[in-house]
Amino acid sequence: DWVMKDHIAEAVEKIREQVGDEEVILGLSGGVDSSVAAALIHRAIGDQLTCVFVDHGLLRLNEGDLVMDMFVGKLHAKVIRVDASDLFLGKLAGVSDPEAKRKIIGGEFVAVFKQEAAKLVGAGAKGAKWLAQGTIYPDVIESGGAKSKKAVTIKSHHNVGGLPEQLGLKLLEPLRDLFKDEVRELGVALGLPPEMVYRHPFPGPGLGVRILGEVKKEYADLLRRADAIFIEELRNFRDDTTGKTWYDLTSQAFTVFLPVKSVGVMGDGRTYDYVVALRAVQTSDFMTADWAELPYALLKKVSSRIINEVRGINRVTYDVSSKPPATIEWE
Ligand code: XMP
Repeated sequence: DWVMKDHIAEAVEKIREQVGDEEVILGLSGGVDSSVAAALIHRAIGDQLTCVFVDHGLLRLNEGDLVMDMFVGKLHAKVIRVDASDLFLGKLAGVSDPEAKRKIIGGEFVAVFKQEAAKLVGAGAKGAKWLAQGTIYPDVIESGGAKSKKAVTIKSHHNVGGLPEQLGLKLLEPLRDLFKDEVRELGVALGLPPEMVYRHPFPGPGLGVRILGEVKKEYADLLRRADAIFIEELRNFRDDTTGKTWYDLTSQAFTVFLPVKSVGVMGDGRTYDYVVALRAVQTSDFMTADWAELPYALLKKVSSRIINEVRGINRVTYDVSSKPPATIEWE
């Protein structure tokens, strides 16, 4: 529509004025805000933008490839993909405390990003001068006063605090005045797929806080496959009255890996395998949340698919806890 086209043109013009012919670095996470910021800045300055995508190995099934297909394949943006999964798994070995895991993941994430960014800054006369971030208006308000410990962690994870100064970079934040809904509309207008732009939120530490206790590659691989089935079926099942998919009718839905084995039967044999929990909530602000009353047919389909298709998981449970007193995530 007209209003959105004007808005894009204006934003593009502003970015060009700010940046001139200088180079820009952006940390791409695959999340909505950094994706929309990347698409917008790329529209404005093309190859003057280099995105750094740190893959910590705790992303969802094929997520890294999807990000690359979109930004490199379709938008032709410059993206440096850093596969740091071994590094992260190494640092997480033997660590089971949730906050300790968050600190390690957040800390390593910044360290890896900084290392890559420093290379781009140090690239001679054409060295990068700007750090772009997908900060949106609610982030601006929120960082006015620190709230809970978790809120601080969330902030420090994706809006890498202090980093521009440390790298000697100027800060570019083209989404600073926008609310989430406006960011999503902008993303669609810029040609990002609606499934990407209307995705449920995904925590910075990723599957690291959805594998209870110690994180292991084996667990992450099982969880990724189970979770992909859950999400696929949420997108397949529609509610008759609204016509909406259950993915769109829930605010956040995911699978949690429990490092616990239980007994099952398969064919003539006994199995002794892992358990997963499905979590789906409805909320307007994520401060309180109700567990979603998913149709039994959907739960049944997901359960039977996970148990049949993911060897190593023989039991699926559904989390019927509201927040409070439970939290949305299990860690
Ligand atoms: P809880 O579990 O506290 O989650 O009810 C509320 C919302 O915050 C997200 N969350 C995080 N996001 N880093 C993030 O970027 C984190 O460490 C983190 N912990 C929780 C959670 O997914 C939910 O949307």
